Amino acid sequence: MVPRLIGLEECEALTAREVHDLYRRYVSRSQVSLMTTFGFGRELVDRAEGAWVHMRDGNRVLDMSGGVGVLNHGHNHPRVLAARARFAEQRRMEVHKAFFSPYLAALSHNVAELLPGDLNISYFPNSGAEANEGAIKLAYKYHEGRRQTILRADISFHGKTLGAGSLTGSAENHFRFPGLPNAVVYPYGDVAAVRAAVEATRRPDGSCDVYALMVEPFSASSMRCWSESALRELRQLCTDEEIVLIFDEVYTGWGKTGELFYFMRHEGLLPDVLVYSKSLGGGKASISGYTVREKLFRKAYDRLSDVILHSTTYYGFGEETATAVEAVNVVVEEDFPARARRVGAILGPGLERVRAAHPDAVDRVAGVGALWGVFLNGGPKLLDLAGKLVPGFAHDPRFGTKLITLSVIAHLYREHKIMTYYSPNVENPLMVAPTLMAEPADLEHFLRALDATLALGLRRLLTGFVREKVSSAW
Ligand SMILES: Cc1ncc(COP(=O)(O)O)c(C=O)c1O
Repeated sequence: MVPRLIGLEECEALTAREVHDLYRRYVSRSQVSLMTTFGFGRELVDRAEGAWVHMRDGNRVLDMSGGVGVLNHGHNHPRVLAARARFAEQRRMEVHKAFFSPYLAALSHNVAELLPGDLNISYFPNSGAEANEGAIKLAYKYHEGRRQTILRADISFHGKTLGAGSLTGSAENHFRFPGLPNAVVYPYGDVAAVRAAVEATRRPDGSCDVYALMVEPFSASSMRCWSESALRELRQLCTDEEIVLIFDEVYTGWGKTGELFYFMRHEGLLPDVLVYSKSLGGGKASISGYTVREKLFRKAYDRLSDVILHSTTYYGFGEETATAVEAVNVVVEEDFPARARRVGAILGPGLERVRAAHPDAVDRVAGVGALWGVFLNGGPKLLDLAGKLVPGFAHDPRFGTKLITLSVIAHLYREHKIMTYYSPNVENPLMVAPTLMAEPADLEHFLRALDATLALGLRRLLTGFVREKVSSAW
């Protein structure tokens, strides 16, 4: 029998209902429920440019989610598109295993040029989790397997593969899968606790057992950050104990927070390995990376017998890497850090005004550059109501806040055609993380819409949202 396959043109002509049906049958039923909850998934996207998403039904949606860190360049940045078109037109080669890649050489050079100190040697896989695991593997190898402990924060996000997932402290990661052995948890931001963990795992001969310390200098899943003095103390501790200090800036990199990387706001501060991803691909390529201080890399891996100890099929893939070369040039030439600071100069005071206008609805706002969280709070009565409206979630103490936050997100989308999201981690802030292509007028439009939404009152938003969900046919 000839298989009945869907072709590309036919795929582009599928209706939303047909796509949902295919998802239900071949991807995941729950994913359809989740994505339609916010309202977003009910229509299909025609195209996207800059900060705007154009729907098939003719509506235009302001994307304040910034692709969860991927879209610093905005949707379909013309220079990034041109780089990819050029690569295709010139019939460049993708798989560079036997031949050297000029793209890989240039990207590694450019990253070294932009990062401080001797952060000079890079490896480019395709996801944040892979890059983190590569960094951890390198740290383990640096100590030749003689150290067994890795430290990670209680509040953290490093990815969802088995290894990175075992270092991720996030509510969404609630099932206990097997993971990296000897991962010791410390409270985020607490240097004394890190010191205590180093002491507690010290071996009988007094030597240190910790090979790596995982740190998110700014945690985009919780909107918390380490103080400058704490980061410097961590650096000193790692230097004294020869622990490989890994900064995970997968979300916060490439200008998002108002510096090229968040840690770079602190003069002279240097991790041993920096991990990044997301906007490295300019919003088009799935590419991540880690960059290592030169002497660490040379000791860990740089001998012929170890040269293929770490690799992946798509590492340094042609078009992904060429795209990243262009994306990084755009970051620098269009001064993304300055763009993020301009976004922050509007969103920071703007969100604070919204909080002040709705003190019963908004606990606090926190953030930096183009990365902000709005912490909604309906108070005990509303949380209680949320539990009654949708029973069956008593096991989740955060359910009420999540439902309230979802109702605001859904209203912003339905009534104002604005896309936001919320963090599944700790206090579940509503995330406001636009692309760096958002214009001041877009940001003011968003602030007015948030103000108008909250003016309706959280109670009304919540009950309306639940009623609509229950009556909806989706
Ligand atoms: C800080 C951080 N680290 C790691 C990751 C994992 O990246 P990926 O989903 O590409 O594996 C993420 C993803 O959001 C992240 O925000």
